[in-house]
Parts: sequence; structure tokens; C-alpha cells
Amino acid sequence: MGYTLAMIGCGVMGQAVLSAIYNAPKAESLEEKTRFPAKIIASNYDEESAKLVTDLINGFSESPNGIVVESTWGKNEEVVEEAQVIFLGVKPFVVNEVMEPLIEKVSGKLLISICAGWTIESLSKYSNQVSRIMTNTPAKYGYGCAVVSHSPQVSISQKQIVKQLISQVGKYVELPEKNMDAATALVGSGPAFVLLMLESLMESGIKMGIPLKESKECAMKVMEGTIKMVEESGQHPSVLKHQVCTPGGTTIAGLCVMEDKGVKSGIIRGVEEASIVSAKLGKK
Ligand SMILES: NC(=O)c1ccc[n+]([C@@H]2O[C@H](COP(=O)([O-])OP(=O)(O)OC[C@H]3O[C@@H](n4cnc5c(N)ncnc54)[C@H](OP(=O)(O)O)[C@@H]3O)[C@@H](O)[C@H]2O)c1
Repeated sequence: MGYTLAMIGCGVMGQAVLSAIYNAPKAESLEEKTRFPAKIIASNYDEESAKLVTDLINGFSESPNGIVVESTWGKNEEVVEEAQVIFLGVKPFVVNEVMEPLIEKVSGKLLISICAGWTIESLSKYSNQVSRIMTNTPAKYGYGCAVVSHSPQVSISQKQIVKQLISQVGKYVELPEKNMDAATALVGSGPAFVLLMLESLMESGIKMGIPLKESKECAMKVMEGTIKMVEESGQHPSVLKHQVCTPGGTTIAGLCVMEDKGVKSGIIRGVEEASIVSAKLGKK
């Protein structure tokens, strides 16, 4: 008999994580299988949100790992009481209000939080076994990235559970908590920065007369293909960039203008600024 996972707050990000865990490929060993929950209970505030979760699950075929999902609302206490692992997916500003009535029932259980700005220390009043996650919206499609930090009390077997659950959203990276504000900027806000670059490439095509549809298709493929090239070659991006630069050619000319306009430092400083704001929000 496996464990029960309670998802307190199952909105946009919660549903992305729930879908990824529910649809995870069949475990290859018994050990791996026991790290998946037998049951997930999604607990929201109102009936309408609970129904959205039910509709989401009804749209899937059976879970490859036999995970059963229940969706409910207004019953956080009962749900937490039944569960051995708690996933917190509410908005950061309601964490206190949601968690205070649950303190006794959460205490001593593994608490996995995706709430931005909530540090391990600030969550440790609810449980000393805390895994703090920063993920991003591509998680909805299985292409997310999740940066994870654990409190010292999280055991090796609990870390294995967190890894098994959260790696289903995409890439799983463990880092010390001191890197979490940087991860919030790079991973959490990252998709918006990449979308700005995609939009710029796409609009360059439009400006030069390529229709919108084709500009978008080309810009997307250039980004996708470049990432694949970095992945498969294992080369540093600078090396690959110089391979595209013919002496006296078009690419180096374009890169020079981008350097003049401060594109690279603009991106670096922009991501850094997001991390500064993340650190400030965490102190509030
Ligand atoms: N969106 C992102 O890109 C992103 C990225 C990284 C991290 N995060 C983090 O993910 C967390 C969730 O964000 P989200 O975008 O998924 O928010 P969301 O869609 O608003 O989901 C929050 C959920 O919490 C539920 N909730 C509110 N009060 C509750 C209560 N008292 N008991 C149980 N459930 C309650 C809401 O249910 P009702 O609808 O019934 O009120 C809602 O389903 C945030 O802490 C955020 O920092 C988000």
C-alpha cells in the first residue's frame, strides 16, 4: 500500500505537477514504484476549482502507475490528516492563512512547497522536513525546469521521493537554498525572457517582409535547433557562435550591432534584477 499525497492548492502550477505525476511512465522497479503515491488528493478552496481538477483527470487515460486522484474543496484538515506527504501550491500571500489551521497535522510530514519567496526557514514553522521548489510554466507541457533545496531534516529516502515526483515536470536540479533567488529569476521568470527573445527574432522577420506565420515558425525552429545543437555537441555556446561567424560575413556584422545595443549585458542585468526583486519579496 503506497502513500497519499495531499496537494493543498491545485491551480495552474499544481495541475501541471499533478498531470506530470499522474501520467509519469510506468516505474521500472518496485523501488521506483513505491516512490509514487498510491493516491493524490487535490484540495482547493472552492467547488469550481475542484471540478477543474476532476475534469483534467477525466481527460486522461488510466495512470501508468495506478495512481488514484480525488479532488475536493474546503477540507484541507481532513486531506492533510490522511496524507503522508504534503504539496503546497497556493499563492504565496495566502500561505499563512491556509497553513496555520493545519500546523498540527502537517508537523513531522514531508512538506513540498512551490510558493515563491517562502524560504525553508519560513516554512519550518509548519514542518522541519521542507523541500522548496522553484519551477516554471513549461512544466505544464513536461518541459519545465525545477530547482530544489531541502532542509537538513529531509531524509535520503524523502529526497528520492521529491526527485521522483518533481522530475516528472522536466529537468530536476538540486541547489543550495542560497541560489534560490537566482533560480527564481533564471528558471521561474526565464520563460518570459526567452519569449521576449523569440518575439524579437520573429518581429525581425516581419520587419524585413516575411509574413507573421512564417516568421514565427522560423524563429521557433531557430531557437529549438540551436538548443538541440548545444545539447548534442556538448560545446560551449561561444564556440558554436564563432562557427557561424564567417570572417567579414553577415553573422559577425549582426552580432556587432547587438553588442553595441547591449543585448548581452541587458539580458544578464535583467535576470539579476529579477533575482534582486525575488530576494526583497522573500523578506516581506
Ligand atoms: N505561475 C507560475 O508561473 C509559477 C511559477 C513558479 C512558481 N509558482 C508558484 O506556484 C504557486 C501557485 O501559483 P499558481 O499560478 O498555480 O496559482 P493559482 O492558479 O491561483 O492556484 C492556487 C490554487 O490555490 C487554491 N487555494 C487558495 N486558497 C486555498 C485554500 N484555503 N485551501 C486550498 N486551496 C486554496 C486555489 O483554489 P481556488 O481557485 O478554489 O481559490 C487555486 O487553485 C504560487 O505560490 C507561485 O509562487 C508559480
